[in-house]
Formats: sequence, C-alpha cells, structure tokens
Amino acid sequence: MEKTLSIVKPDGVKKNLIGEVIKRFEQQGLRVAALKMIHLTEEGAKGFYIVHRQRPFYESLTRFMSEGPIVVMMVEGEKAISIVREIMGATNPKDAAPGTIRADFAADIEHNIVHGSDSQESAEFEISYFFSSLEIH
Ligand code: CDP
Ligand code: MG
Repeated sequence: MEKTLSIVKPDGVKKNLIGEVIKRFEQQGLRVAALKMIHLTEEGAKGFYIVHRQRPFYESLTRFMSEGPIVVMMVEGEKAISIVREIMGATNPKDAAPGTIRADFAADIEHNIVHGSDSQESAEFEISYFFSSLEIH
C-alpha cells in the first residue's frame, strides 16, 4: 500500500474540476484518505515547492499556486504514486498522453490542473506538509 499527495491546483478549482480529478483517482481503485480545501500564501507555496527553489519557474509557480484555493488530498492504494502520475499525464500538456487529466484540461506547462508526488520520499514530505495524523483516515 502506497500513499501519495495530490493537489487540485487553483486553475483546476476555477475550472470546476475537483470532482473530475477525484473521480479519476477513485475509478482506478485509489482511496482518498485525507482531503481539504485551503488557500496557500506565497510563503506556503514556496515551502511546498522548496525542491524547485533554483528553477527559473519557481517565482511564477508559487505565485500561481497561491492565487486561489486548492484542494489537497492524500490518496492511497497499490502503486498509488505511479498510478496518480499516469492519470495526471506529463507536466507539459503538449506531451501528455490522450485521456490524461493534463491532456484533457491543462492550459499550459504551468497551469496544469493537478499535482502528484514523484517518489515515496517526496510523498512523505508533502503529506506531512499538509496533514497531521489526526486528519488521515
Ligand atoms: O508537477 P510535475 O511533477 O509534473 O512537474 P515538476 O517538474 O515537479 O514541476 C512542478 C510544477 O512546476 C509543474 O507541475 C508546473 O506547474 C510548474 N512548471 C512550470 O511552470 N514550468 C516548467 N518548465 C516546469 C514546471
Ligand atoms: Mg513534481
């Protein structure tokens, strides 16, 4: 059983895709074990994306991630990390496989609707960034 952290980003919330994202996870046999809607400050977004602090897109990304509410969730299941990333599609919607969330809904490489942890190590950091043990069911 694997755990991963997913986010419906501000563009996904604005486009009314909260249910669509959750439905696709559930249809692949994944279970939502923790969930909440929050509005990150820019500092909060910077802390979450700290691994990208040297990248040229860091400022723009963290401004975008704090421009409106997001839905954060912990999702669990067998191979949850790679399954969530498959359902999401490639970072750039131009490269995303047909039928993935990003191919279907993302506007561009930054505004790409959804986040999913890329490894067990980042999943642990990201889950604890948003959820206490009492919020995980
Ligand atoms: O989200 P994912 O793991 O697919 O990509 P990442 O390389 O970890 O980048 C994190 C996020 O930064 C992406 O989802 C995009 O929103 C944004 N990004 C960007 O704006 N420009 C890039 N060249 C790469 C990523
Ligand atoms: Mg990533």
